[in-house]
Amino acid sequence: MPTHPHRGKFITLEGLDGCGKSTQLERLAAVLRADGFSVVTTREPGGTETGEKIRKLLLDTATSGLSPLSELALMFASRAQHIKEVIQPALAEGRIVLCDRFTDSSEAYQGGGRKLGSEAVLALHRILCGGLQPELTILMDSELAASVDRARRRNQARTAGSSSGESDENRFEHESRAFFERVRTAYLAIAAREPQRVVVVDARGTAEDTHKQIVEIVRRKLKLAAKTA
Ligand SMILES: Nc1ncnc2c1ncn2[C@@H]1O[C@H](COP(=O)(O)OP(=O)(O)O)[C@@H](O)[C@H]1O
Ligand SMILES: [Mg+2]
Repeated sequence: MPTHPHRGKFITLEGLDGCGKSTQLERLAAVLRADGFSVVTTREPGGTETGEKIRKLLLDTATSGLSPLSELALMFASRAQHIKEVIQPALAEGRIVLCDRFTDSSEAYQGGGRKLGSEAVLALHRILCGGLQPELTILMDSELAASVDRARRRNQARTAGSSSGESDENRFEHESRAFFERVRTAYLAIAAREPQRVVVVDARGTAEDTHKQIVEIVRRKLKLAAKTA
């Protein structure tokens, strides 16, 4: 029995930093809106006022010495608030929620990258998120080096353009190649475990190539016929 019965569609985008999630989320939202759907775009960590404060803490390079378990707990604190305040109400109204990262990110980064394992993450998900599952998760699989490079360039451009005192979001970028390899491996393991929910998309091509794949998958998997056609 689903813990969260709802009429909407919950779609999440996952993948390494810089693989193009935010880019693709906006493009997908535009297509779905043009089709006549009511779409909410949001992100994790963050998505609420409290969640954005937690995001700042989690991603800011100035945050040092955070233990892996504290990191995991903060991710879930942000998520529990996000579900209650944003995701669940929107789904109850029958809207489409497009979310940039969700629990799979915790399983990949804290479970895999930080070596906390999947079990702790899945247990917290059950307790703190009522086991809420996306109808569809797009896992954007990309070249590790290219992704990390892109994220670094994007963040440098942002930090340079922002007024002093604003946070940078580089804390995870200081991780090693081995860390990101573990993240990617954990992501692919989730996809192998839950093939009916998670679809892996090749994100190594142009943004346009990736966009076309994603739109096709969303329409096919969720049987979303345009409302305005
Ligand atoms: N397919 C692509 N090829 C090359 N650059 C891309 C592609 N998709 C996105 N980018 C650029 O790479 C950077 C990271 O993309 P972004 O969407 O912010 O990734 P994410 O949200 O996954 O971290 C941005 O500067 C973006 O414009
Ligand atoms: Mg992003």
